[in-house]
Amino acid sequence: MQGLSPVHAHISSRGWKEVLGAMEIGPMTWQEWPWVAALTASTAWKHVSAPLRAEVSPEWVAARVQQSLLGLLGQPGNVALVAREAGRPVGYLVVTFLPDELTGVTTGLFWDIWVEPAWRGRGVATSLTHAGEAHCRAMGVKLIRRYIATDNQPSLHHAVRDGNRPERVMYEKVL
Ligand SMILES: CC(C)(COP(=O)(O)OP(=O)(O)OC[C@H]1O[C@@H](n2cnc3c(N)ncnc32)[C@H](O)[C@@H]1OP(=O)(O)O)[C@@H](O)C(=O)NCCC(=O)NCCS
Repeated sequence: MQGLSPVHAHISSRGWKEVLGAMEIGPMTWQEWPWVAALTASTAWKHVSAPLRAEVSPEWVAARVQQSLLGLLGQPGNVALVAREAGRPVGYLVVTFLPDELTGVTTGLFWDIWVEPAWRGRGVATSLTHAGEAHCRAMGVKLIRRYIATDNQPSLHHAVRDGNRPERVMYEKVL
């Protein structure tokens, strides 16, 4: 996580200044890890396919994704960006890098994004993804992907507003 300067999101241009004040976005600190770890586990459980839920427990999935995230954050370039208002975390975005499966070209992956419910609809996620894009550009990456559950309307809406388009859609069949 070294080498990434804190990004100060100036949101006054979109008219939210009076709501958000001066929000700062920067790399996650170790004190923020329990908060990120709990939320990433909660989001992960929501993404577990219904037929697989009977095979595992939320605790099992939590342990797996938290271990994965710690492993990812130990690799150069990957970063968890945290948005803070008056020093308190209100949202985060995990930015990772991986080779495209067909070309091997390095791509960015927005691994997880979360905004505290009280702060939603105010542009926090958009500020986070803009900061994530700046980091990806600085890493020389030209394409960013993200996985979104097909029923997650807020996240789908945010992604489209953020300039994303659907690439491939994953289908599943329950046996
Ligand atoms: C998805 C999420 C990160 C969006 O965060 P946010 O800070 O509220 O998003 P923003 O305020 O930047 O909104 C961006 C756009 O999405 C829209 N949006 C946000 N929440 C919405 C909702 N519930 N319904 C419809 N549109 C919504 C905003 O209106 C805005 O569009 P606009 O510019 O046309 O008004 C937030 O809802 C969240 O944390 N959800 C739970 C975690 C989650 O599902 N993460 C994604 C996993 S793939």
